[in-house]
Amino acid sequence: MSDNLGVGIIGCGNISAAYLQLAPLLKGYDIVAVADINMDNANARADEFGVRANTVEDLLASDDIDLVINLTIPAAHLEVSKAVLQAGKHVYSEKPFVLSLAEAQELGEVARANKVRIGSAPDTFMGASHQLARSLIDDGTIGTVTSGTAIVMSHGMEHWHPNPDFFFLKGGGPILDLGPYYICNLVQMLGPVQKVTSFTGAASATRTISNGPREGEAVPVETPTTIHALLSFESGAIITLLASWDVWTNDHPIMELYGTEGTMNVPDPNFFGGELSVTERDGEAVTKSWDHPFGIPNFEDVHANYRGAGLADMALSILAGTPHRCNDDLATHVVEVMTAVLEAGETGQVMNMKTTCDRPATLGPEQAKALLA
Ligand SMILES: NC(=O)c1ccc[n+]([C@@H]2O[C@H](COP(=O)([O-])OP(=O)(O)OC[C@H]3O[C@@H](n4cnc5c(N)ncnc54)[C@H](O)[C@@H]3O)[C@@H](O)[C@H]2O)c1
Repeated sequence: MSDNLGVGIIGCGNISAAYLQLAPLLKGYDIVAVADINMDNANARADEFGVRANTVEDLLASDDIDLVINLTIPAAHLEVSKAVLQAGKHVYSEKPFVLSLAEAQELGEVARANKVRIGSAPDTFMGASHQLARSLIDDGTIGTVTSGTAIVMSHGMEHWHPNPDFFFLKGGGPILDLGPYYICNLVQMLGPVQKVTSFTGAASATRTISNGPREGEAVPVETPTTIHALLSFESGAIITLLASWDVWTNDHPIMELYGTEGTMNVPDPNFFGGELSVTERDGEAVTKSWDHPFGIPNFEDVHANYRGAGLADMALSILAGTPHRCNDDLATHVVEVMTAVLEAGETGQVMNMKTTCDRPATLGPEQAKALLA
């Protein structure tokens, strides 16, 4: 018999395939059942991956499920995660964890009352490049980080997702949808954020789906799609974050950190791998790499995708009674930063953070290997 945690999935849409496909790579958990409000979606994934299809209610009542991955749309994250916790099961949510600080704090209380844990994506900060960045920063390679930029701009998302509605409603937009990757990685490298401000806007009131069965249909835009934010960290670092789905092309580096001894170019935290370079003072940029398993291309043969690593770390930590990296405090702080950025855009205020968190523990090559089956 396996000592692994039994895991169920609620939400059998687009991203559920990646979790089901990558689970055998990772230790600590076995996906045994899937559920969805739409049983056709649950049955399709169950058939594809040879797992059980349940109703949501039956999955929550199943004795062989210790932990549920919440892969529903962002607007359903609170309700579904709360039901999981109230059923006495741990929850690991896709990003964004929830849509407000109050919701995050509510879930924290329910988890504590039921003596179960919360985990949340993203886990890409556990990737080879981002762990290397963290290790070089901690070693003082670029001195004290004083400032930097994080840029996530494209003309998304209606051209690739067949049902892109949620991206443009409250709870979507580039900050809540993609911000978690960038903000989480900044927090793991630099520590918690102290205050934020921003200006926000949207280029158009509707977007036209250009892919799939609903091609040509217009969907309303009810959230900012262009955000220029300033994040001031407890460490003293100041980061400019530009997030937009209204930009056709741009040539900005994705993430650059400026330190007292040099500059670091950090690859896209939406992925586990990518090229990292360091320029010491006014020298030449030098590419840095290390032998870390979460940098090895394994997905569609082009990039490193270890989605589920955060879940494996959580499952093994639950079994060992130790803290996990993609934890409640980190997820709650990131939600506060993102929603404060949006509120600052509406009010013009500088928002002081009410929460803080520790940087998640580092994940070196040996610790990463220990998560792999
Ligand atoms: N698609 C991606 O590439 C991607 C990547 C990373 C993270 N995510 C995140 O994963 C989550 C899901 O994204 P997706 O693209 O798979 O969405 P999707 O719309 O393709 O699928 C969502 C599924 O959840 C189900 N659902 C909705 N509300 C429910 C409820 N209350 N109870 C049970 N089932 C419910 C829907 O029927 C649908 O099958 C989102 O939070 C998203 O931000 C998606």
